[in-house]
Amino acid sequence: MTNKILFIANWKMFGTKKTVKTINNVIKFSKSKHNKKAKIIYCPPYTLIDSIVKKTKNSEIDVGAQNCHFEKNTGPFTGSISADMIKESGAKLVIIGHSEVRMQGETNLIINKKIINALHTKLKVIFCFGETLKEKKSNKTKLVLKKQLILGLKYVKNLNNIIFAYEPVWSIGTGKVLDNKNLRTQFLYLKKFLKTKYKIKKPTIVYGGSVNDKNILNLKKINEIDGFLIGGASTNSKKFIDIIKKTIN
Ligand code: PGA
Repeated sequence: MTNKILFIANWKMFGTKKTVKTINNVIKFSKSKHNKKAKIIYCPPYTLIDSIVKKTKNSEIDVGAQNCHFEKNTGPFTGSISADMIKESGAKLVIIGHSEVRMQGETNLIINKKIINALHTKLKVIFCFGETLKEKKSNKTKLVLKKQLILGLKYVKNLNNIIFAYEPVWSIGTGKVLDNKNLRTQFLYLKKFLKTKYKIKKPTIVYGGSVNDKNILNLKKINEIDGFLIGGASTNSKKFIDIIKKTIN
């Protein structure tokens, strides 16, 4: 999808107009001659998409939403936003399958519908998947990842418009990260699986889960990782730039 390293900021239910003002430095950095290697994507709450789209207009930064409804256009779904609406807001991507949404009852079947509709709307999809601690402890990781991928990708055609985001659930917001050796093995397995089963020539897979300005020095050593999905540390522009600089330098 891109040869640049991806830095996807997932703001979750954080961020105000004040936070938006602080991204000026990130925009400046993204345009600087020091940055030839990073591709930045902001996924703020829906309420801030419009202002970030405007702010980043003359930059290479893209904006994404954090979720969408499984119905494509419109419908009687109070509190929901469709892929069409997201597209109209100026966002180019949407996160689907995040574990914090799965925990609210989102099934693999719903995720699959969302992916199909979002791609049909010409949004790129950031497809999250990952095992829970219980699944990891009972040695079910591979089985679970495979199941999430197979069910999520059923009947999906535009596979090249998907950024895969491997996020072990036990690693999100906990400060815990898999050691490099095992994380690398996991990425090698996932890439091979996507290449052989889905004929994706160069699958893009990012890592997410407690990425910060310290552990990034270790994580960047894993060549198989194409970028990072960053929650907590991404709402702080200084930390976010620090993570990017440490990765690309
Ligand atoms: P975290 O979140 O960086 O705060 O662990 C990552 C994510 O949930 O996408």
